[in-house]
Amino acid sequence: MSSTSLRAVEITPDNVRTAVKVEVREDQNAFVAPVVFSLAEAYASRETAWPRLILDGDRPVAFIMANFDPDEKEPDHRCGIWRLNVAAGEQGKGYGRFAVQAVLDEARRRGQRRVTVSWVPGEGSPEEFYLKLGFRKTGKVDGDELVGELFLD
Ligand SMILES: CC(C)(COP(=O)(O)OP(=O)(O)OC[C@H]1O[C@@H](n2cnc3c(N)ncnc32)[C@H](O)[C@@H]1OP(=O)(O)O)[C@@H](O)C(=O)NCCC(=O)NCCS
Repeated sequence: MSSTSLRAVEITPDNVRTAVKVEVREDQNAFVAPVVFSLAEAYASRETAWPRLILDGDRPVAFIMANFDPDEKEPDHRCGIWRLNVAAGEQGKGYGRFAVQAVLDEARRRGQRRVTVSWVPGEGSPEEFYLKLGFRKTGKVDGDELVGELFLD
Protein backbone atom coordinates (compact mmCIF):
# COMPACT_ATOMS: atom_id res chain seq x y z
CA MET A 1 0.00 0.00 0.00
CA SER A 2 1.22 3.46 -0.85
CA SER A 3 -0.49 6.05 1.34
CA THR A 4 0.04 8.78 -1.26
CA SER A 5 -1.83 6.90 -3.98
CA LEU A 6 -4.80 5.77 -1.87
CA ARG A 7 -8.11 7.48 -2.50
CA ALA A 8 -11.86 7.08 -2.07
CA VAL A 9 -13.60 8.02 -5.32
CA GLU A 10 -17.21 8.49 -6.32
CA ILE A 11 -18.88 5.83 -8.43
CA THR A 12 -19.16 7.06 -12.02
CA PRO A 13 -20.13 5.56 -15.39
CA ASP A 14 -16.40 5.07 -15.98
CA ASN A 15 -15.66 3.00 -12.88
CA VAL A 16 -18.96 1.28 -12.02
CA ARG A 17 -17.98 -1.95 -13.77
CA THR A 18 -14.67 -1.93 -11.91
CA ALA A 19 -16.47 -1.36 -8.60
CA VAL A 20 -18.80 -4.36 -8.99
CA LYS A 21 -15.76 -6.59 -9.51
CA VAL A 22 -14.57 -5.91 -5.94
CA GLU A 23 -15.42 -9.23 -4.28
CA VAL A 24 -14.71 -10.53 -0.79
CA ARG A 25 -13.68 -14.16 -0.18
CA GLU A 26 -16.47 -16.64 -0.79
CA ASP A 27 -16.59 -17.65 2.88
CA GLN A 28 -17.18 -13.96 3.77
CA ASN A 29 -20.36 -13.57 1.71
CA ALA A 30 -22.44 -14.11 4.85
CA PHE A 31 -21.04 -10.85 6.27
CA VAL A 32 -21.61 -8.39 3.44
CA ALA A 33 -23.78 -7.98 0.34
CA PRO A 34 -22.15 -7.97 -3.11
CA VAL A 35 -21.19 -4.50 -4.37
CA VAL A 36 -23.72 -4.70 -7.22
CA PHE A 37 -26.51 -5.08 -4.65
CA SER A 38 -25.21 -2.15 -2.59
CA LEU A 39 -25.09 0.04 -5.68
CA ALA A 40 -28.72 -0.82 -6.44
CA GLU A 41 -29.59 0.27 -2.90
CA ALA A 42 -27.46 3.39 -3.31
CA TYR A 43 -29.52 4.26 -6.40
CA ALA A 44 -32.75 3.75 -4.47
CA SER A 45 -31.44 5.86 -1.55
CA ARG A 46 -29.50 8.38 -3.60
CA GLU A 47 -30.29 11.31 -1.29
CA THR A 48 -28.50 9.67 1.63
CA ALA A 49 -26.19 6.89 0.39
CA TRP A 50 -22.47 7.61 0.11
CA PRO A 51 -20.81 4.83 -1.94
CA ARG A 52 -17.09 5.02 -2.71
CA LEU A 53 -14.56 2.88 -4.56
CA ILE A 54 -11.16 2.68 -2.88
CA LEU A 55 -8.26 2.81 -5.33
CA ASP A 56 -4.58 2.24 -4.65
CA GLY A 57 -3.11 3.96 -7.66
CA ASP A 58 -5.25 2.49 -10.42
CA ARG A 59 -5.91 -0.76 -8.52
CA PRO A 60 -9.45 -1.21 -7.15
CA VAL A 61 -9.00 -2.62 -3.63
CA ALA A 62 -12.22 -2.00 -1.69
CA PHE A 63 -15.74 -0.58 -1.69
CA ILE A 64 -17.41 1.26 1.17
CA MET A 65 -20.87 2.74 1.52
CA ALA A 66 -22.08 5.01 4.27
CA ASN A 67 -25.51 6.48 4.90
CA PHE A 68 -25.98 10.06 6.04
CA ASP A 69 -29.59 10.77 6.96
CA PRO A 70 -29.68 13.18 9.93
CA ASP A 71 -33.51 13.33 9.88
CA GLU A 72 -33.95 9.55 10.24
CA LYS A 73 -36.08 8.61 13.27
CA GLU A 74 -33.80 5.78 14.37
CA PRO A 75 -30.57 7.36 15.72
CA ASP A 76 -28.52 4.29 14.75
CA HIS A 77 -29.41 4.89 11.08
CA ARG A 78 -28.52 8.61 10.92
CA CYS A 79 -24.81 8.37 10.23
CA GLY A 80 -23.16 5.03 9.69
CA ILE A 81 -21.18 2.57 7.68
CA TRP A 82 -23.59 0.53 5.62
CA ARG A 83 -21.26 -1.76 3.61
CA LEU A 84 -17.56 -2.51 3.47
CA ASN A 85 -16.01 -4.98 1.05
CA VAL A 86 -12.23 -5.35 0.83
CA ALA A 87 -11.24 -7.42 -2.22
CA ALA A 88 -10.23 -10.99 -1.39
CA GLY A 89 -6.59 -10.59 -2.42
CA GLU A 90 -6.21 -7.17 -0.80
CA GLN A 91 -7.19 -7.84 2.82
CA GLY A 92 -4.81 -7.24 5.72
CA LYS A 93 -3.06 -4.32 3.97
CA GLY A 94 -4.79 -1.40 5.71
CA TYR A 95 -7.41 -0.75 3.01
CA GLY A 96 -10.33 -1.46 5.34
CA ARG A 97 -8.93 1.01 7.86
CA PHE A 98 -8.47 3.63 5.12
CA ALA A 99 -12.07 3.13 3.91
CA VAL A 100 -13.51 3.54 7.42
CA GLN A 101 -11.36 6.63 7.93
CA ALA A 102 -12.82 8.11 4.73
CA VAL A 103 -16.32 7.71 6.19
CA LEU A 104 -15.24 9.22 9.52
CA ASP A 105 -13.73 12.20 7.68
CA GLU A 106 -16.95 12.68 5.69
CA ALA A 107 -19.06 12.40 8.85
CA ARG A 108 -16.91 15.05 10.54
CA ARG A 109 -17.19 17.26 7.46
CA ARG A 110 -20.98 16.98 7.75
CA GLY A 111 -20.87 17.97 11.42
CA GLN A 112 -21.78 14.52 12.73
CA ARG A 113 -20.33 13.26 16.01
CA ARG A 114 -21.59 9.68 16.26
CA VAL A 115 -20.90 7.03 13.61
CA THR A 116 -22.49 3.59 13.78
CA VAL A 117 -21.87 0.25 12.13
CA SER A 118 -23.47 -3.14 12.55
CA TRP A 119 -22.12 -6.59 11.83
CA VAL A 120 -23.19 -10.21 11.77
CA PRO A 121 -21.44 -11.89 14.71
CA GLY A 122 -19.71 -15.26 14.51
CA GLU A 123 -16.54 -16.84 13.23
CA GLY A 124 -14.93 -14.70 10.54
CA SER A 125 -17.00 -11.63 11.44
CA PRO A 126 -15.45 -8.15 11.19
CA GLU A 127 -16.12 -7.49 14.90
CA GLU A 128 -12.46 -7.35 15.97
CA PHE A 129 -11.64 -5.10 13.03
CA TYR A 130 -14.23 -2.52 14.09
CA LEU A 131 -13.26 -2.74 17.77
CA LYS A 132 -9.63 -2.18 16.82
CA LEU A 133 -10.64 0.95 14.89
CA GLY A 134 -12.31 2.42 17.99
CA PHE A 135 -15.93 1.30 17.71
CA ARG A 136 -17.60 0.05 20.88
CA LYS A 137 -20.55 -2.31 21.12
CA THR A 138 -23.76 -0.49 22.09
CA GLY A 139 -25.40 -3.70 23.30
CA LYS A 140 -28.16 -3.20 20.75
CA VAL A 141 -29.12 -5.68 18.06
CA ASP A 142 -30.46 -4.63 14.63
CA GLY A 143 -32.06 -7.66 13.00
CA ASP A 144 -29.33 -10.29 13.26
CA GLU A 145 -26.54 -7.70 13.57
CA LEU A 146 -24.75 -6.20 16.57
CA VAL A 147 -24.58 -2.42 16.63
CA GLY A 148 -21.33 -0.55 17.25
CA GLU A 149 -20.70 3.17 17.66
CA LEU A 150 -17.77 5.56 17.57
CA PHE A 151 -17.75 9.16 18.81
CA LEU A 152 -15.62 11.57 16.81
CA ASP A 153 -13.37 14.02 18.68
C1 LIG B 1 -13.23 -6.93 7.76
C2 LIG B 1 -12.51 -6.24 6.61
C3 LIG B 1 -13.31 -5.03 6.15
C4 LIG B 1 -11.15 -5.77 7.13
O1 LIG B 1 -10.45 -5.07 6.09
P1 LIG B 1 -8.85 -5.21 5.92
O2 LIG B 1 -8.45 -4.30 4.83
O3 LIG B 1 -8.50 -6.62 5.79
O4 LIG B 1 -8.36 -4.67 7.34
P2 LIG B 1 -7.06 -3.73 7.64
O5 LIG B 1 -5.90 -4.33 6.93
O6 LIG B 1 -7.38 -2.31 7.34
O7 LIG B 1 -6.92 -3.98 9.20
C5 LIG B 1 -6.92 -2.95 10.19
C6 LIG B 1 -6.62 -3.60 11.52
O8 LIG B 1 -7.67 -4.52 11.87
C7 LIG B 1 -7.14 -5.84 12.04
N1 LIG B 1 -8.12 -6.79 11.48
C8 LIG B 1 -8.63 -6.80 10.23
N2 LIG B 1 -9.51 -7.80 10.10
C9 LIG B 1 -9.53 -8.45 11.30
C10 LIG B 1 -10.25 -9.56 11.79
N3 LIG B 1 -11.14 -10.22 11.03
N4 LIG B 1 -10.02 -9.95 13.08
C11 LIG B 1 -9.14 -9.29 13.86
N5 LIG B 1 -8.44 -8.20 13.44
C12 LIG B 1 -8.64 -7.79 12.17
C13 LIG B 1 -5.84 -5.85 11.26
O9 LIG B 1 -4.97 -6.83 11.76
C14 LIG B 1 -5.34 -4.44 11.49
O10 LIG B 1 -4.74 -4.34 12.76
P3 LIG B 1 -3.31 -3.62 12.98
O11 LIG B 1 -3.55 -2.17 12.67
O12 LIG B 1 -3.01 -3.89 14.40
O13 LIG B 1 -2.37 -4.25 12.02
C15 LIG B 1 -12.27 -7.21 5.42
O14 LIG B 1 -11.63 -8.36 5.90
C16 LIG B 1 -13.52 -7.62 4.68
O15 LIG B 1 -13.88 -7.02 3.65
N6 LIG B 1 -14.18 -8.69 5.19
C17 LIG B 1 -15.33 -9.30 4.52
C18 LIG B 1 -16.56 -8.42 4.51
C19 LIG B 1 -16.96 -7.83 5.85
O16 LIG B 1 -16.99 -8.50 6.88
N7 LIG B 1 -17.27 -6.55 5.78
C20 LIG B 1 -17.77 -5.78 6.91
C21 LIG B 1 -19.27 -5.77 6.88
S1 LIG B 1 -19.96 -4.90 8.26
